[in-house]
Amino acid sequence: MSLLIKNGEIITGDTRYRADIYCEDETISRIGTNLEVPPDTEVIDASGKYVFPGFIDPHVHIYLPFMGTFSKDTHETGSRAALVGGTTTYIEMVAPSRGEDPLEGYELWKSKAEGTSACDYSFHMGVSRFDRNTEAQLKEIIAQGITSFKVFLAYKGFFGIDDEELFHTLSLAQREGVIVAAHCENAELVAQLQQSLLAQGKTGPEFHEPSRPPTVEADGVHHFATFLETTGAHGYIVHLSCEAALEAALAAKSRGIDLGIEAVIPHLMLDKSYAERPNFEGAKYVMSPPLRERKNQGVLWKALQHGLIDTVATDHAPFDFTQKEMGRGDFTKIPNGIPAIEDRVNLLYTYGVNRGPLDIHRFVDAAATRAAKLFGLFPRKGTIQLGSDADLVVYDPNYRGTLSAASQHMNLDYNGFEGMEIDGRPSVVTVRGQVAVRDGAFVGEKGRGKLLLREPLDGAGLR
Ligand code: URP
Ligand code: ZN
Ligand code: ZN
Repeated sequence: MSLLIKNGEIITGDTRYRADIYCEDETISRIGTNLEVPPDTEVIDASGKYVFPGFIDPHVHIYLPFMGTFSKDTHETGSRAALVGGTTTYIEMVAPSRGEDPLEGYELWKSKAEGTSACDYSFHMGVSRFDRNTEAQLKEIIAQGITSFKVFLAYKGFFGIDDEELFHTLSLAQREGVIVAAHCENAELVAQLQQSLLAQGKTGPEFHEPSRPPTVEADGVHHFATFLETTGAHGYIVHLSCEAALEAALAAKSRGIDLGIEAVIPHLMLDKSYAERPNFEGAKYVMSPPLRERKNQGVLWKALQHGLIDTVATDHAPFDFTQKEMGRGDFTKIPNGIPAIEDRVNLLYTYGVNRGPLDIHRFVDAAATRAAKLFGLFPRKGTIQLGSDADLVVYDPNYRGTLSAASQHMNLDYNGFEGMEIDGRPSVVTVRGQVAVRDGAFVGEKGRGKLLLREPLDGAGLR
């Protein structure tokens, strides 16, 4: 069946106009005013609503064995939550441990999503070791269409890689036209600070931030940038959390280093006082890099507004409160992560566009278009134009609601944004022309999501 979305106000990263959108065979085939309704067409009236391109979350963890446990969402629950919140594509981190081979890891992560996800997805290939077998396996994964890597300059002894491995990973990425996403913190300093705090009896979640201060993150950014400069690879800093790290990243960009910058919704919305909440409540707010002093939030919002920060992701890493209990008495054992896949778009719209300084086109750009461009999905995803996949969000700016674990679709016993108001939500979400959400309810199809394969960068750094 085809689909006609009538009378909406179409908003992309750079255009705004009223028109109807006709979708057939999974793509957008006509855009115009007063389009006729062919037989066997579902009509959606979008009067008084915006029509956005399906949003893209370029940094999620759905299947994640981490810190002695496993994340709670599956692709069934995670994709449902994503879609209800307006995200029609996500890019998951394949995160093999140091002991696992890349191909083995890739096949495992792929098997978790195949036949399960209701939305489209792709992967960043995590490189957690680089030995003489790694290069051939990574080349095979690139040839299959996974054209971004992920490295951790943190989590010493688990996902983290050393400098020799980082050099080889980036050199390979440069040769193959692969962009490398990096978690930037100085792993050794984190380990030393953690031991020193624990030795002083400072064991609660409120000591997570002091164990990874802004200087430690800024050093990680500078280190990554130095390696990018040396190898000529293209980089992308994930979940940048503070002013010091932003300064290091912008200094690198001003030296001509090709570097994308990502903020995540928890750092934009929450400060470190959440992790200081009593009775171990703060554990819900432990993620890395940590929630920061409040002044950093203003810096991030401003950089986002001016396009210095490219994208807004979630770093969705869903561990419930029972799992967080593993770190009672030792904050270094609290599984890191704040779930947000369902709430990113509504929070960014509410506190960025409706109540904040974010231009509505910058909102679409940061939450959809820029990620599509950086990661080789544009113009198939991230915009509304003829031939693009019919991933559309009919957004109701008059909806008013409150976020709560009681009504969420994420498979968790808490919501880090509990009680926050939202001024808008998707009323209809489509995945390649098929309706997946109506008025907050998931009506999509388990397993309909497709694995998105991507081209490498060309010599000029563009896809
Ligand atoms: O705390 C976080 N960010 N957990 C997920 C793993 C990562 O570092 O991205
Ligand atoms: Zn990370
Ligand atoms: Zn992450």
